[in-house]
Amino acid sequence: MAISLACRFEEIFSSIPRIYRAPGRINLIGEHTDYNDGFVMPAAIGLSTQVAIAPRTDRKLVLRSEEVSGEFEFDVHHLPERRVGAWCDYVLGVALGLQRRGCEIKGANLLVRGEVPIGAGLSSSAALEVASALALLSLSGAALAMPEVAKLCREAENSFVGARVGIMDQFVSCMGKAGHAVLLDCRSLEFKLVPIPREIRLVICNTMVKHDLAVGSYNARREECEEAVRILARRNPEIRALRDVSVDLLAKYGEDLPAVIRKRCSHVVHENQRVLDAVQALAAADLTRLGELMRESHRSLRDLYEVSCRELDLMVEAAEGLPGYCGGRMTGGGFGGCTINLMRADNAQEFAAQISERYRRAAGIEPRVYICAAEDGAQAVN
Ligand code: GLA
Repeated sequence: MAISLACRFEEIFSSIPRIYRAPGRINLIGEHTDYNDGFVMPAAIGLSTQVAIAPRTDRKLVLRSEEVSGEFEFDVHHLPERRVGAWCDYVLGVALGLQRRGCEIKGANLLVRGEVPIGAGLSSSAALEVASALALLSLSGAALAMPEVAKLCREAENSFVGARVGIMDQFVSCMGKAGHAVLLDCRSLEFKLVPIPREIRLVICNTMVKHDLAVGSYNARREECEEAVRILARRNPEIRALRDVSVDLLAKYGEDLPAVIRKRCSHVVHENQRVLDAVQALAAADLTRLGELMRESHRSLRDLYEVSCRELDLMVEAAEGLPGYCGGRMTGGGFGGCTINLMRADNAQEFAAQISERYRRAAGIEPRVYICAAEDGAQAVN
């Protein structure tokens, strides 16, 4: 059995840590809608990141990860103002955010253990940010409500790391609940827990193609959405975000938009509606309908938003026709990463074996498959 994180920490730093964990997530539906003030329906999963922390007597912040060798060391009174270009940026961004809010960051040793695969669209970054925030807060003596932690972590990723992500990942990592999906209104941050029927498993299929959110394409999509808002607002000043664009309004004024921007806009507007329809379907335990909405979402992400890739499409196609499969789609930012598959529990094991075989044959890559359920959000471990 793997040595516990607490033991490992003691070996390295000779003190007993407090440990905090924050989960990764899948998103059932509502992709690239969060930064358009729209709706999303993610769920926290069992793969998580843990951060162990113990105070030091000096002003140093010492950061280590079990996955990457080496150590980062900073003076808490002079934290770098610009990103370093390594994993420690997620922790630094959070530490700076806490300082800006008046929380004292004390000298500390931190050790990170991550289970969420990196660059797989399962929010390893949000998990690291949230677990780090809880760890640093515990030493500062300050308290912050979970939705505030989520906002702070998102801000860290936007302004320090440089990825202009929305609030979905950090929010569900903080607020997820076992057995439930989280319907989130990304404008008001009002949310509702939607029970997932017990006979359902969330099967994650990793294409093993990594994406890199921070590089251009994600931010480029955001800019295209902002451009759509600027153009549509000329004739409809009430539009502040694509959230305010209805299907009817798009039909009426869509001609004003350049072709590519019209496609992006069309995805977002219909995806928001699909989220609301999916909530109804889930509440009625209508898995056929929910599955169909997920398929539509994938097609839209592939053809209109253009954030899928060959391997994601192969993985989605490979699921069709397998027993107990209700529907599926790419999940997360795209350009690689995972698909999420809505499965009947009884068929989940067999599905995992069969889709792996089909994908291996089609893509020539060995995939990784996780059979999951929705789990609780971030919390203290000890
Ligand atoms: C990434 C971002 C989220 C969201 C998704 C796409 O996961 O972190 O904020 O925009 O992509 O839905």
